[in-house]
Amino acid sequence: MHRLPKDALIMAPMVDLSHEAYRQLIRSFGGCDLFYSEMLNSRIVPGENPETSIYLKWSVKDDLIFQILGSEPKKMAQAALKLSGYSPWGIDVNMGCWLNKVTVHGWGAALMKDIERAGQVLAAVRTAVQDRPVSVKMRIGYALDRGYMLDFASMLEEGGADFIILHARTVPDGMNRKARWEYIAALKEHVSIPVIGNGDVRKPADAVAMMRQTGCDGVMIGRQALITPWIFRDVKALSAGLPEEDLPDLKEVMWKLLDFLEAIFPPDVALKRFKTGISWLAMNLTFGHHLAKEAGRAKGGLQAREIIRTCFEKGIC
Ligand SMILES: Cc1cc2nc3c(=O)[nH]c(=O)nc-3n(C[C@H](O)[C@H](O)[C@H](O)COP(=O)(O)O)c2cc1C
Repeated sequence: MHRLPKDALIMAPMVDLSHEAYRQLIRSFGGCDLFYSEMLNSRIVPGENPETSIYLKWSVKDDLIFQILGSEPKKMAQAALKLSGYSPWGIDVNMGCWLNKVTVHGWGAALMKDIERAGQVLAAVRTAVQDRPVSVKMRIGYALDRGYMLDFASMLEEGGADFIILHARTVPDGMNRKARWEYIAALKEHVSIPVIGNGDVRKPADAVAMMRQTGCDGVMIGRQALITPWIFRDVKALSAGLPEEDLPDLKEVMWKLLDFLEAIFPPDVALKRFKTGISWLAMNLTFGHHLAKEAGRAKGGLQAREIIRTCFEKGIC
């Protein structure tokens, strides 16, 4: 059974973004220990063909955790068993997605208000996956109720979860307001399994501060990993007391993302995912808004590359 690396640095699951091409981009800078897939619907996974599915793509899998979404124990077990058969590092159960289109089905964070069902889902997945870690990504809960969060986490620990990722917001918080890191500290103090903290790491010093302030066993980074895919490298350097590395050439980074996308996905999917990705990378630039808008009009990869080149040459679009 794999064990979490010390002070683990982990890329968060993100729909349309934590795909193999972005993962490759992040791997190219180093520093990231584990990667989460996009959330995969347990009703769909059992019928997916890895030859054709755009969601089941990987080139490296020994650092990959598949995240599954659903609330039917049988379907979750089927999905977990199938995905586990591809020998990833681990399997994760999504108990944190707050979006109404997810919770309305009882999936994601909705499991946090049905502790019995959440326990059944975990038990089914745990039974299906015996030979690799099973994690659960959760939120604080529906309210700022520390006791409820801790009881929920105890249930997960007793149900066989190997570690917990806490996105330190409540469900009604959505993605608003500051993440409440003090709940990560409370969770860490309460359970014996490792706790990974998540929420609002924007710079390397934040990751180090989160570990120091909360005692968590690792940090998961989402949005900032899309904006600065080299952040994991920089966190590792900061933790080791090494000097900061130079910023990479952003134009090259954008092109590299497109290269990876085109090597992995059919052209239409690659272009669509490039347009989603570039809007995050472009946040590094004063002219980023224009660049993302212009790139959004590209009809193909060549044109997208040309638009990027022109924008950088002019400094504007
Ligand atoms: C575009 C986007 C897609 C996301 N998709 C997922 C998902 O599929 N599964 C999940 O558990 N969380 C998902 N999240 C939440 C992130 O994994 C993470 O918990 C959240 O962004 C907070 O971390 P951050 O402040 O480092 O971004 C998503 C977030 C964003 C911004």
